[in-house]
Amino acid sequence: MSKFRTVRGMRDFLPEQARTMRYIENLARELAKLYGFKEVITPVVESYDLLAAKSGEEIRQRMYAFKDLGGRKVALRPEFTASIARLVATTLRNEPKPLRLFCAGSLYRYDEPQLGRYREFWQSNFELIGSKNPEADAEILTLTNDLMERLGLKNYWFKVGHMGILRGILGEEGVKEEDQNLIMQRFDKKLWEEGLKILEKLKVSRKCLETIKNLMKIHGTKIEDVLGKVKEKVKDYEVSVSAVENLEEILNLTFESGVKFEVSIEPAFARGLEYYTGIIFEVFTPELEIALSGGGRYDKLIELFGGEPTPAVGVAHGIDRIMLAMEKQKIKPKLPEKPLVVIIPIEEDLKSKALELAIQLRKKGVCTEVEVMRRTATRALQDADRRGATHTVLVAPKELKEGKVVLRDMQLREQKAVDLEKLPNEILDE
Ligand code: HAM
Repeated sequence: MSKFRTVRGMRDFLPEQARTMRYIENLARELAKLYGFKEVITPVVESYDLLAAKSGEEIRQRMYAFKDLGGRKVALRPEFTASIARLVATTLRNEPKPLRLFCAGSLYRYDEPQLGRYREFWQSNFELIGSKNPEADAEILTLTNDLMERLGLKNYWFKVGHMGILRGILGEEGVKEEDQNLIMQRFDKKLWEEGLKILEKLKVSRKCLETIKNLMKIHGTKIEDVLGKVKEKVKDYEVSVSAVENLEEILNLTFESGVKFEVSIEPAFARGLEYYTGIIFEVFTPELEIALSGGGRYDKLIELFGGEPTPAVGVAHGIDRIMLAMEKQKIKPKLPEKPLVVIIPIEEDLKSKALELAIQLRKKGVCTEVEVMRRTATRALQDADRRGATHTVLVAPKELKEGKVVLRDMQLREQKAVDLEKLPNEILDE
């Protein structure tokens, strides 16, 4: 036995899983095209300071950070948004807005490994940059719903909130941004009591504490109903009221367009990432306690990185978790069934003919393998069956003399001699 294994938290994807992962990624990529998002590829290694700036304490502490051989403090990216904001603040600075950017790839967080939580994971990520308007937020929600629908996922719902609601109250109370962030991190992890204790220590007013406690009790699916209650509770906090109105406008716009999905509106919902300024949301399915996707509006990040003041909204879909949810819901990737051909030379001196035939079939787009283990025809046929071949082609001297090969349909278990030049069509026309 080898002493080598994958490093804790890292995984190999075997063919079936790899296929599903790429299927999800490609579906997201197709969606990107449909919605006008252009793909960019950013580096896995970025400057630590860039990634750490607004990622929040939780992610900051879990970054794979190190000094490179040139002494630069770098880290493996824990998410894409910082890289995209960097691009927009620098190279894409003068590009006309809006910019719609898509990326997909692996990310790294030193999380405690458990179901759906890995140290290397994959996202497909969408950022819509340059618009402060609710229709941009609605596009991101719609696109996310579209992906879930196309994947065939059922019973999913969006947990929705707005950063402006809590920050509006805390800002009015004079709570400093760092302290606000500490509180948001506790709320993000549902450590409500801990968050409230920080507030008590900061000696915020009774009214502030009561308002936040009241908000924690509110959640529901009916927009008007829930947001009406929230508005009533925060009526003395101007920023919070406009946050609620903004959320209402985004949701109404989205649903007026005819899009349908379940929402759970939670005014005390917070996210660990510190750059969010507007709507925040996550997508859940009943089978998993962890979110499949997460996103929101971040209007200050690009400016913070030295760019022009540029509002933006985006979302990242966790490809690994989507695969888990598909497994739980017994959903198989919808991939076109293509023929798979194995070519078996019956005699050793027909090897080159087998290779030549394989080249011809591949030119016609037929997936073709050649028997390379020098097995007997019977063994090679058994193996082709095990590998899921739809057809085998037996290259035998007698038929070859007549310009033919034996094509065997592995499902019907029938075979016939076929002219060499007709072989690709015989396989493809079936
Ligand atoms: P996030 O909520 O940190 O947001 O991550 C988005 C998704 O990535 C999660 O919902 C989850 O599916 C997946 N994910 C996160 N951590 C792990 C992990 N350790 N193992 C497996 N999957 C994981 C962001 O990353 C933001 N950049 C999203 C965004 C884009 N906001 C605006 N634009």
